[in-house]
Amino acid sequence: MFGGFVFNLPTNHRALKKIIVTLDGYSSCGKSTLARELAAELNYVFVDSGAMYRAITLYFLREHINWNNRREVKAALQNITLSFEYNTQKGSSDILLNDENVEHLIREMLVAESVSEVAAIKEVREFAVAQQRALGNKKGIVMDGRDIGTTVFPEAELKIFVTADVAIRAERRYKELYAKNPNITIEEITNNLAMRDYIDSNRDVSPLRKADDAIVLDNSNLTRKEQLKLVLGWVKAKLT
Ligand code: DC
Repeated sequence: MFGGFVFNLPTNHRALKKIIVTLDGYSSCGKSTLARELAAELNYVFVDSGAMYRAITLYFLREHINWNNRREVKAALQNITLSFEYNTQKGSSDILLNDENVEHLIREMLVAESVSEVAAIKEVREFAVAQQRALGNKKGIVMDGRDIGTTVFPEAELKIFVTADVAIRAERRYKELYAKNPNITIEEITNNLAMRDYIDSNRDVSPLRKADDAIVLDNSNLTRKEQLKLVLGWVKAKLT
């Protein structure tokens, strides 16, 4: 439950049909936060698909994999097992890379600097998308990413494309990262966001784009509560 709100979902909505909700959009738009809150409210599974690309990137960095070499990439992927482990404190799942909880490590700048390049590789995407589809086979899932509504679940019942002003996004990310790294600057973050948006939107395989049937959510001037309330209204419309 979020902040004592009453969202007026049908009282028996948990017993009703389950749907797939996809949240795609630019980096640092708060997609994961919204997806997590939405899933908690609906009693659905939340999957942060970006965490999968980040964990793969962490593995490549650690093992010094040359990701421009297709053969090396293919061989490396065979040694990667990704899984999720529920974290009761957070109320959502942490990602495990070969059974090691790497939820914190994958958020570091080093990973952020390379993840878009790694996520643009065809073999990497095939590997991740297959696992994402398997996670959604029972529906009742909220998944956020870049290509969830276009490639992973093109048949999803509710697709949302999240966007926000780039200065606001950089400010939000700065607040998040500053606690861990007080030397970080807004410029560094803005540059990283711009670079990731560019690579994500211009890659050949499954570029970031709004699905034709997605609803746009610009949350530049919305509080977390406001956006959650809005989206729960959209879910309600799909469930009734
Ligand atoms: O959502 P995020 O910032 O944690 O995502 C990290 C990177 O992974 C992002 O730069 C793009 C990529 N990504 C992707 O290509 N497809 C997805 N479904 C999710 C993330």
